[in-house]
Amino acid sequence: MGRFYITTPIYYTNDAPHVGSAYSTVNADALARWHRLLGDEVKFLTGTDEHGQKVSDAAKKQGHEPQEWTDRTSARFREAWDALNIDYDDFIRTTEPRHHESVQKFLGAIYENGYIYKDVYQGLYCVSCEDYYTLDASVDGKCPIHGSALTEMQEENWFFKLSAFEDRLLEYYTDHPEFVTPETKRNEAYSFIKGGLRDISITRTSISWGVKVPWDEEHVFYVWYDALINYLTAIGYGRDDEEVAKWWPYSNHLIGKEIIRFHCVWWPAMCMAAGLEPPSHVHVHGWLLIGGQKLSKTMAAEGGVKLTDIAPMELINEYGVDPVRYYLLRETSLGNDGEFSLEGVTHRYNTDLANNLGNLVARVCTVVANKCEGRGPSPESNSSLRAQAESAIEANIEGWTRFNPQSALEATWSLIGATNAYLEAHAPWKMEPGEALDTVMGDALEAIRLVSILASPAMPGVCEEIWRRIGLAGTPTDAAFAESRVWGQYRGEGIIEKGAPLFPRISSER
Ligand code: MSP
Repeated sequence: MGRFYITTPIYYTNDAPHVGSAYSTVNADALARWHRLLGDEVKFLTGTDEHGQKVSDAAKKQGHEPQEWTDRTSARFREAWDALNIDYDDFIRTTEPRHHESVQKFLGAIYENGYIYKDVYQGLYCVSCEDYYTLDASVDGKCPIHGSALTEMQEENWFFKLSAFEDRLLEYYTDHPEFVTPETKRNEAYSFIKGGLRDISITRTSISWGVKVPWDEEHVFYVWYDALINYLTAIGYGRDDEEVAKWWPYSNHLIGKEIIRFHCVWWPAMCMAAGLEPPSHVHVHGWLLIGGQKLSKTMAAEGGVKLTDIAPMELINEYGVDPVRYYLLRETSLGNDGEFSLEGVTHRYNTDLANNLGNLVARVCTVVANKCEGRGPSPESNSSLRAQAESAIEANIEGWTRFNPQSALEATWSLIGATNAYLEAHAPWKMEPGEALDTVMGDALEAIRLVSILASPAMPGVCEEIWRRIGLAGTPTDAAFAESRVWGQYRGEGIIEKGAPLFPRISSER
């Protein structure tokens, strides 16, 4: 049994959640569920990033105080995550007192250690990124990510000596080749460090919506500087050293590719400066794109994509929660960009879910109900499906361990395909009741039992339903995977239920 601490980025509360934010969260949830299935001790953290200029501007625009606005928007994230069946262990809000306390202690430690100094900052700022740019890094004076105008800023600020960590960071990357995955993203972060690091401004005086700098209360910390620390707040930094020691060595941050620099350069350096080890692993995912354009709140606000069309709730109402989760996990490899389209969701739904999985369960349940008096027979120990199941199990272990839900699900669906082919080959619907029929049905039921376990991190609700329909007691995740993965355990405990179609086909002419 191991330990697994997984985090999502915390989401800005300038606007409601959308399918892009659901992407990070569903992937983290499925990874957490996989590790719980293994019997690991798991902590899954998500939450909202509530300070900074972007949130305070959004509140003002809507005629609200920032706290009131952020209370409302944060609640919308919780609602969306509940609807997506996200089983987080903690939901952090950066406006909570526990977070302010941890931020002040963590940055206080960096200050005490001599890595923070005062200077004048002069440069350009993008409110959408909440980030500073040099003229060189801008594109014709505009933000390289959002294409929006950058604001000239001149402020007396506190700076973090990031430049002092260049060599230590390079050494850390060399000694920990798996610190950042996938490798392409690791190389990107490494090259960025190798290109030379400049000190960064970490406080602002021009806004007051933030965590106060404990040694200079005229200043608030720049939002990224407070936000990153949430990963430590949630495990008790500054309040409970034992919890920090328990979870920090097992930390995994799942993040989108546009926030690599913060997580893979600043954050490990900040940890080093505070006298802490960097997080143990950062996995970087790509973007969901609509017609080649990133789907994000800031771009929508600037007149790009209409996000209200693809709010998680609307998708769930249309397809059901588990099909939406399945699509987000299955369609794109977690690390690459992927195209998001409603046609794509419908296609996956009709092929993988209705035709393959739904059809398999329906066929097997119907034959058992009609020809085996509703009681599922036991599998053969030397079934030809056994090898297929065992290789699907190995591929699942590999896929989930490597933060690749897509490849894990591919393997599970090849077991589904093999089981459907096995049924086609034997055509049990034409067989007479008897031993030969029992053998075929027992094997197919065993494959379905294993599929319900393997697919449960992706589709927890549907898998429980399948488990029940095939006459098993409890749920697919009751037993630890080391036990439940072994071929041959299916025992028809209850009466098999034909039930309504699990995935009624959706017309592609929507
Ligand atoms: N608040 C910061 C993160 C601070 S973490 C200490 C932030 N918030 S965000 O709301 O803008 O984005 C949160 C996450 O959602 C990022 O990982 C981002 O990549 C992800 N996504 C936003 N739009 C996305 C897509 N279109 N596709 C995939 N993920 C996307 O950044």
